[in-house]
Amino acid sequence: MISHPAAPPRGGDLLAPAPRQDRSSPAAWPDRAGGPRELSREAVRVLVANWDGSYTVPSRRLYPHQWSWDSAFIAIGNARWAPRRARQELLTLFGAQWRDGRVPHIVFNPSVPAGSYFPGPDFWGVRAPCGAATSGIVQPPVHAPAAWQVHLADPDPAFLRRIYPRLVAQQRFLREARRSAEGLLSIVHPWESGMDNSPAWDAPLAAVRPDPLGVSRRDLAHVDPGERPTDRDYERYTVLARAYRDTGYRRPGAFAVQDPLFNAAYGAAESALAKIAAACGLDPAPHHREAAAITAAMVEHLYADGLFHARDALTGRLIRSGSAAGLTPLILPGLPHEIADALAATALDRFELERRGTVPSFAPATPEFDPARYWRGPSWINLSWLVWHGLRRRRPDLAALVADGMVRAVAHAGFREYFDPATLEGHGCHDFSWSAALVTDVLAQHRLEGLAPPGGEVAQQAGRLGEVHDISDHVLT
Ligand code: SER
Repeated sequence: MISHPAAPPRGGDLLAPAPRQDRSSPAAWPDRAGGPRELSREAVRVLVANWDGSYTVPSRRLYPHQWSWDSAFIAIGNARWAPRRARQELLTLFGAQWRDGRVPHIVFNPSVPAGSYFPGPDFWGVRAPCGAATSGIVQPPVHAPAAWQVHLADPDPAFLRRIYPRLVAQQRFLREARRSAEGLLSIVHPWESGMDNSPAWDAPLAAVRPDPLGVSRRDLAHVDPGERPTDRDYERYTVLARAYRDTGYRRPGAFAVQDPLFNAAYGAAESALAKIAAACGLDPAPHHREAAAITAAMVEHLYADGLFHARDALTGRLIRSGSAAGLTPLILPGLPHEIADALAATALDRFELERRGTVPSFAPATPEFDPARYWRGPSWINLSWLVWHGLRRRRPDLAALVADGMVRAVAHAGFREYFDPATLEGHGCHDFSWSAALVTDVLAQHRLEGLAPPGGEVAQQAGRLGEVHDISDHVLT
């Protein structure tokens, strides 16, 4: 644990409206004056509305199927008020795991009309052993920490025993199919990073020749084009996915990148698997070794000047950028203290954490920064949540700022997909599941630990909230 003099908490009410630059509609948040109780109720309402019987859609219209890393984040939030749903969410996803251990990034719902989402089941052309149509790429493996958090919220050894071998197989696939001589894992498509059109991918994507053939976007029916990837981006995404598909999802096309978020997720998963193994009476040591190895490889090959960066696996070159993916190795329990300190300093400096509270997905003082376009600058609740998680034990003062930022964003704009980091204006779709889930987790965590988020006032209000379970009873009955 790094010890630091505690910075004075930032004052102010978590739920106060954003400052003057606010351009969003006052109607965007139905009860801005409401406290955490109203916020938690609203979050649960979103999660209930997006529940499909055995998993949760990220968004009814924009993302009408099951997404892999969304489900992990959603399970973390659902564990706070509906632990059975949280377990079901993960088990449904892993029910579509492939024989080689890969967990596909989308599991398609056959009852959703074909053509609702591009690229749909016909494009991917593949089925999991369970019979479900899926995509053939993966997403950051954040599921083992999610499973552990679900267990901690409502201990269930049978669930742990059931999910453990599946999580182990997921990790094994990544080692066998994606690990380089340096000990780092590659992603083979920008969608595998979860941060699809991050400016960090501009250089490696430039090697992919865009082709409009077969591109039939559906996203623009739901979200302003200025907030989504461009057509050129989609043409390149489609070319890459098709190339991978055409090798039976074995050999990547022209994109292979070692992403810090993906590798950090893999390392954090090994640390969580060590805990799960011990709880199941199994040997945790191999997981500890694996977590230490990936942490060391990341420090050696991906770290430079206070931030982790992606590395182009095809050229061996570091892709220096201002992507906030580079802060997420904070979630690695074994990250050396001096590096964690440097990341915290970078979060304050280049990501302007103290001023903004939420974590912008790309450093604001860069030419590529765009506060409204998908992953090119807006704040996302899951990124902020990962950084919050990574700072909680190391820098509680900064963690409190990030918790403040997340709650302030959704209180101001509703459970939007992403937020302008300066004004907190909401962007992307409405009623986005992981925004609701992870804020539920933040509010519950603060209440359970008796921690005071900045301002203290919300903690006091949260103390009067009663159990989050009460809220779910209210919403579900
Ligand atoms: N995130 C991608 C999308 O926008 C694909 O997973 O549809």
